Amino acid sequence: MPRVALITGGSRGIGAATARVLAGRGFRVVVNHRFSAQQAEEVVAGVTAAGGEAVAIRADVTVPEDISAMADAIARRWGGVDALVRNALIPFVVTSFADLSWEQLGGKVNAERHAAYLVTKAVVPGRVSRGYGRVVYLSTGLSRRLRDGMIALGTAGAALGQFVRYVALELAPHGVTANLVAPATVGGTMVTEQLTPERVRTRGIHEELIAYVADQEG
Ligand SMILES: NC(=O)c1ccc[n+]([C@@H]2O[C@H](COP(=O)([O-])OP(=O)(O)OC[C@H]3O[C@@H](n4cnc5c(N)ncnc54)[C@H](OP(=O)(O)O)[C@@H]3O)[C@@H](O)[C@H]2O)c1
Repeated sequence: MPRVALITGGSRGIGAATARVLAGRGFRVVVNHRFSAQQAEEVVAGVTAAGGEAVAIRADVTVPEDISAMADAIARRWGGVDALVRNALIPFVVTSFADLSWEQLGGKVNAERHAAYLVTKAVVPGRVSRGYGRVVYLSTGLSRRLRDGMIALGTAGAALGQFVRYVALELAPHGVTANLVAPATVGGTMVTEQLTPERVRTRGIHEELIAYVADQEG
């Protein structure tokens, strides 16, 4: 039976690239999105055309009812999620601390943690009961390195990182791994539209690395 991967925010950017790589590795892939239904369907069509299996499911990852409806839909269709890639990027502002409001900072940090909490709670208990699961959380290199204007993203990424370490500690004895992938800035994504060209690196390695971690048997 093919394994099932859920990629939150899989309609474009790193999530879409990861969905394609995981489908190529034989996973059935769930392409989650919020507003970008057409892009999600294009990812599904690409996977299907290449001989894989994929479905697009709309769910706002910050809304508990949406997450539980998505988990139910996946369970009915394919029996559950073997590999979760928590990728959806909650929008954030690029600004200095001087111009940053509490709503901008607290909103980003809270929404990012809430989304990680909700989707982990929805997927992980089923994995623990089966003694196998893979969870990969996309964070950002800016959670450890500093860059002007990235205070909201970097702070949210740092909080996510410690959450993931605690989750990993608790899940490891049950055969479920939890890992962080924290890329540098990636070209061709929405983030890069906010940056000058010299601050953008070339994409290539991240989706392969994410899929490798999500696909590990050992
Ligand atoms: N791009 C980079 O340079 C970079 C660098 C380091 C780390 N990362 C990390 O990599 C991940 C992906 O980044 P990206 O740049 O590829 O993102 P992106 O191109 O902006 O795509 C974001 C995805 O998240 C979805 N999304 C946003 N809010 C959502 C919500 N509330 N519920 C469900 N889906 C939601 C979007 O779908 P809708 O449009 O339908 O909302 C879209 O599919 C993020 O976790 C980010 O922190 C990115």
